[in-house]
Amino acid sequence: MTTVFREDALAGKTVFVAGASSGINLGIAQRFARAGARLALISRDPERIAAAAATINDAGGKAIGIAADVRDYGAVEAAMTQARDTLGPFDAVISGAAGNFLAPAAAMSANAFKTVVDIDLIGTFNVFRTSFDFLQAPGASLIAISAPQGEQPKMFQAHACAAKAGINMLIKCLAMEWGPAGVRVNGISPGPIADTEGMARLASTPEMEARVKGALALRDYGTKQDVADAALFLCSASARYITGTILDCDGGALLGDASADALKKSA
Ligand code: NAP
Ligand code: COA
Repeated sequence: MTTVFREDALAGKTVFVAGASSGINLGIAQRFARAGARLALISRDPERIAAAAATINDAGGKAIGIAADVRDYGAVEAAMTQARDTLGPFDAVISGAAGNFLAPAAAMSANAFKTVVDIDLIGTFNVFRTSFDFLQAPGASLIAISAPQGEQPKMFQAHACAAKAGINMLIKCLAMEWGPAGVRVNGISPGPIADTEGMARLASTPEMEARVKGALALRDYGTKQDVADAALFLCSASARYITGTILDCDGGALLGDASADALKKSA
């Protein structure tokens, strides 16, 4: 049995990560590389994804970076073919490509809504569906990166809330259908994570950041390492009986408002 946090926990494993040029997904890829995995990384921008792969190779790991848009099924399939031919069939697949911006629904064009749903939800279907033919199964682990928005409505994020809610249900449907083939499908729902594009867009001033932290039960942002450790657990043999679940790694975000004001009101 693989022990979760041994430094060689993923030795000899191949992992495909979508949306890996920055942020949380790159953090997962770097953590997995330190645990011994070979990484195939995709994102839209050829320079950004090459630079991301270089961070892993420069640190002594093994990674290839391929430019592909998750909205384009054929491009994802071509990237996976190249990745499988270079690194072998995938033991794990992480689907984390996403887009988000704050906009009131009444000021959102149809294309603005569709763009986020296409990247997040359709992109996750494309990545997981394509990967099914490239997996090392039985034993493969698929993880979609969801968000509290998948369960908790948020003003000015109708597109991201709808997309992440769809991802949560997709996780459960695929877990049922693919379990018999020995493929586990789970999600991770990160709360606000420090030093990410996501939080730069959603809490762009120190005042907003303080308000977000002050409402969390654990009173702080999480780190990319927190999410990467959760992903490592879900890909390890320690999680062999876990499928169809969404692991909240969120400092209590989904529990609701735990601010001092809210606590005072309920006292
Ligand atoms: P990020 O750094 O902007 O990561 C998004 C990644 O997706 C980038 O690598 C981007 O690279 C790629 N991407 C965007 N559109 C794509 C497309 N159409 N095809 C392929 N790749 C695409 O943001 P992040 O904040 O770390 O978020 C990462 C994930 O965590 C997302 O799923 C997000 O919803 C989730 N999340 C984040 C937070 C947070 O606090 N930040 C909280 C909850 C959930 P290119 O531009 O090179 O394509
Ligand atoms: N407010 C309202 N509408 C917006 C917007 C904003 N801040 N940003 C983009 N849109 C609209 C555009 O106007 C366009 O609609 P239109 O054709 O009706 O004018 C539509 O959204 C698509 O925009 P476009 O820039 O063509 O999309 P893209 O595919 O090049 O980029 C985004 C996708 C918009 C999601 C872009 O922000 C992105 O690349 N995000 C990735 C990084 C990210 O969001 N990280 C955080 C992850 S949580």
